[in-house]
Amino acid sequence: MKTLMFDAPYNFYEITMILKNGGLIAIPTETVYGLAGNGFNEVAVSNIFKAKGRPSDNPLILHISSLDMLDDIVLSISDEAQKLMDAFWPGPLTLIFPATEKVPKIITAGLPTVAVRFPSHPIMRKIIENCKFPLAAPSANSSGKPSPTLAKRVMEDLSGKIDGVIDGGKCDIGIESTVVDVATLTILRPGFVTESMLQQIVPAIKNTSIFHQEKPISPGMKYTHYSPNAQVQIVQGKNYIETIKNLIEQDLSKNKYVGVLATDETLHNFANVTTLSVGSQNNLGEIASSFFEILRKFDDLGVEKIYSLSFSQEGIGEAIMNRLEKSAGYNIINC
Ligand code: TXA
Ligand code: MG
Repeated sequence: MKTLMFDAPYNFYEITMILKNGGLIAIPTETVYGLAGNGFNEVAVSNIFKAKGRPSDNPLILHISSLDMLDDIVLSISDEAQKLMDAFWPGPLTLIFPATEKVPKIITAGLPTVAVRFPSHPIMRKIIENCKFPLAAPSANSSGKPSPTLAKRVMEDLSGKIDGVIDGGKCDIGIESTVVDVATLTILRPGFVTESMLQQIVPAIKNTSIFHQEKPISPGMKYTHYSPNAQVQIVQGKNYIETIKNLIEQDLSKNKYVGVLATDETLHNFANVTTLSVGSQNNLGEIASSFFEILRKFDDLGVEKIYSLSFSQEGIGEAIMNRLEKSAGYNIINC
């Protein structure tokens, strides 16, 4: 299959026809690129799983462009859910609702619940409006790879496996939506909408340090994730600079090609190896928006091992650290 690249001015008619006919298109959103197909078409949805190589027990998010689209897909909306929707939709928040019979089992991986998001990105919204059905859209990467924030990264992973990619430039936020289960009021995946932002609207929402626990609550929690080809090693604590330097010495003596994922402030400490800055420590939003792309840049360079420092857990820092820890397979040295 030839994968088309759609540039501005976008041919929305052609894009909509492809989706109506059961095809798959990668579409930019405010978080990351999503691999979209008709959420009511089981064949299209099954092709999403195939293209990504995604395990079938990891359910997908349905994306809507108006609240009346919820009538077909959710059984009920609790008061808490309504408050969160009023506060954060459209935007980077996914809510888990009880699903109607109309939602295909392949979307929910057989769960009685369905994940729904109302994205704010104008291209994604316009396409859902044109289609008039919800779009199932996981991140548009091969399963296990860092999520794509640029159209060319989608092409690298999925060219030949999907019908098209819409080039909408770099995604602003760069990290996937926050996922909240409104039945239990728990955060299943941290994201741009932080715990304290959610608690301002619904104080009972909790963040039970679930992101590290053995038994996953959300199916997506149990898979290895966001991994570049290089092995990622997090080094944190007071002596991280010295520790990384020592580890690098050992690796270099074995002719290993190593890199350091640093910040603008720490870049200068690691002069003798490939060091890339993910942004300034004073701007966590910038770090979030560059994080996945930096991992892919190390792969472009052929780096075999990446040492990364850790970041503040404040605000969106929690989501950044969640993605970093997963990309490292929880490989963390405290020093
Ligand atoms: O920002 C985003 O959310 C992006 C863009 C494209 O919208 N999408 C995205 O989708 O990140 P995906 O499939 O990569 O992640 C969906 C997450 C997974 O962790 C999945 O396990 C969880 O949502 N999820 C989906 N349905 C669920 C359900 N019924 N109950 C619990 N977790 C669910
Ligand atoms: Mg994903």
